[in-house]
Amino acid sequence: MSVQEINVPAPADFHVHLRQGKMSELVSPHVAEGGVALAYVMPNLVPPITSAQQASDYLASLSALAPQTKFVGTLYLSPALTPDEIARAAEAGVRGVKSYPRGVTTNSEGGIEDYETYYPIFEAMQKHNMVLNLHGEVPSNADAGICVLNAEEKFLTHLFKIHRQFPDLKIVLEHATTRKAVEAVKQCGDTVGCTITPHHLELIVDDWAGKPLNFCKPVAKYPDDRQALRDVICEGHPRFFLGSDSAPHPLANKYPSAVTHGAPGTKASSSGDDDLEPTGVVSCGCAAGVYTSSILVPLCATLLEGFGALDQLANYVSLNGRKFYGYDNADDMKNGSITLRRASKGATGSAATVPAVYVHPEYVEVADSDASKVQVVPFWAGKRLGWEIVRS
Ligand code: NCD
Ligand code: ZN
Repeated sequence: MSVQEINVPAPADFHVHLRQGKMSELVSPHVAEGGVALAYVMPNLVPPITSAQQASDYLASLSALAPQTKFVGTLYLSPALTPDEIARAAEAGVRGVKSYPRGVTTNSEGGIEDYETYYPIFEAMQKHNMVLNLHGEVPSNADAGICVLNAEEKFLTHLFKIHRQFPDLKIVLEHATTRKAVEAVKQCGDTVGCTITPHHLELIVDDWAGKPLNFCKPVAKYPDDRQALRDVICEGHPRFFLGSDSAPHPLANKYPSAVTHGAPGTKASSSGDDDLEPTGVVSCGCAAGVYTSSILVPLCATLLEGFGALDQLANYVSLNGRKFYGYDNADDMKNGSITLRRASKGATGSAATVPAVYVHPEYVEVADSDASKVQVVPFWAGKRLGWEIVRS
């Protein structure tokens, strides 16, 4: 007889985007709804979080929106950061610093180009026991043979180099998507951990090519890569754990309309010899990010059961990450344990059906109002989950 109920000790999500403004109002309460007690929050806001003060203010705004959740803050690695600011941040409870290579993902225009420049920062972080969170991709460069499919693999030399230079610095390779990345993390010492998202346990290339809702960075890779991610969860390796990388984007940014400028006969094209050719499509890129916060722990349970790792659920969504970060004492874990129950088959419209869309309560269909941009479609929209949270 299969298990019907599972207790999960205070789930923790060690990589989540909770945004600002109306989007933050919509998604911050979803962290608890998805079963998560502790959320490690990414700093890629506009402008990015680069000081202890900004981080504290941001966390206060999140706590006001979702008082039951423990939020842990991070800083954005940038030239603005100094060793003194690291000391202040550590003092204020900021736990990590996130590094985005320039231009590889959402709001990474201010990302870094060269890691050695930041060695004094890493030194200070090591001293204050802060964690370095690495978005492990190098920028695409066709001349150098680099594209989104091998950008993670090409990054791994940076991981090894930083780890060699700072063996006591805690480093997390974020959202690993490849067999090579899993092997690399395993080869490193105990100070190197790795987050794995639920969507990367499910998706491969075919699932995002032409499907904007599944498009995120790093992109999902080959079936064999996905197998390596699943295997390391099955194995229960202690340095691999949940970081959802839940990254909400307004629906309009996932499906931007292709706007052509300079079509024949328009003002923009009326001069020059190319009158008959439109001068180009200016907007067809799709925002990178998959949204999972609101369904997170039931989704993880469903996926893990699918590949025979349900017995590893507590390690994946709670214990391994908490141990790595040091949030595993009784005090940190006393609130927030949850019970999941197997969702009854066939019940339509039950809690186990993933909503089609989340809409901010102030949403109005008026172009350019802030709230009108806040409609988010979750991963697996309309599908049924195998597990649901028992709410008392
Ligand atoms: C993230 C976002 O939207 O902020 N997007 C994504 O595809 N994962 C940024 C990130 O973590 O790369
Ligand atoms: Zn992210």
